[in-house]
Amino acid sequence: MMDDDISVIELVGSLASQSPSIDTTQRAALTHFAQAVLAGLARPPRSIPCRFFYDAKGSELFEEITKLEDYYPTRVETELLLAHGAEIGNLVGRGRMLVEFGSGSSRKTSLLIQALGGVPAYVPIDIAGESLAEAADWLRGQHPDLVIKPLIADFTTAVALPSVASGGPKLGFFSGSTIGNLTHGEASAFLANAARLLGRGSFFLIGVDLKKAPAILLPAYNDAGGVTAAFNLNLLTRINRELGGNFDLTRFSHDAVYDEAKGRVEMHLVSLVDQTVRILGRNFAFAMGERIHTENSHKYSVEQFQVLARGAGWEPVKAWIDADNLFSLHLLQRA
Ligand code: AVI
Repeated sequence: MMDDDISVIELVGSLASQSPSIDTTQRAALTHFAQAVLAGLARPPRSIPCRFFYDAKGSELFEEITKLEDYYPTRVETELLLAHGAEIGNLVGRGRMLVEFGSGSSRKTSLLIQALGGVPAYVPIDIAGESLAEAADWLRGQHPDLVIKPLIADFTTAVALPSVASGGPKLGFFSGSTIGNLTHGEASAFLANAARLLGRGSFFLIGVDLKKAPAILLPAYNDAGGVTAAFNLNLLTRINRELGGNFDLTRFSHDAVYDEAKGRVEMHLVSLVDQTVRILGRNFAFAMGERIHTENSHKYSVEQFQVLARGAGWEPVKAWIDADNLFSLHLLQRA
């Protein structure tokens, strides 16, 4: 452990003592958040990992984003599932347990379960225990006999499935192009870990956003109504609330850019003035125009994603894309 980590733990300890109801899991999560923010803001280029977007307000704003006209991924992926669900069902066959990675609100899952003609069990994996429980309740309303065994874990590093899912053939599901929020190296490690978790003979259905013109990509990440801006800025509100920060949200703005060479949309928060922000007793000076990099959203061609999947132990079975070449749905089989 580094000296710096020890002082962060002490700082978090003093924060936690102001809210005695905090339990050990919450304290560990707070420490993890504090370490990531303090380290990410201390070194150039400044960055904060995008997984911290999803507090209650951030999850709500993300749900709103998925319904925006400009944000095509959710709409088009849903259309692909509706159009090709029966074929996917035929290719994978009946009786597979469904394991969903980063399940979120599970709305698309219902469509898939219908297309598969039901599943013997459903294992959603998500770090957010509360939204996992809410999603499970909603899904039980749609499929009253569904056996649901939620796993509260970081889906990128989950080490074992619940015992109900230890035997039997499985279908993994990773929707929404969340794989794009990982670097290529992380995506490859995630796919290899999923191959190990899902086991021999498993299939994996993954939604992946396609490379396309910035004229379509950029409005999806900078919508006219400002919902994505509010989603990005909410990270600062979260730091203020949870880490005693004093960010003034009127002094930062949202920006989204497409880096063609890296094939990714990047989101940033840009300081509008020279200013100093205090977080957990430490000062961070921002020059006007200085940026905090908050998210990468990688885009893949069908071929590029298939190469990545093959390298991680998966054999591509089929890929479906919509008529406007916006989004792809990949069915993979464990090699
Ligand atoms: C969750 N993830 C796939 C979204 C994306 O498109 O990268 C998050 C998001 N960021 C801005 N809008 C949506």
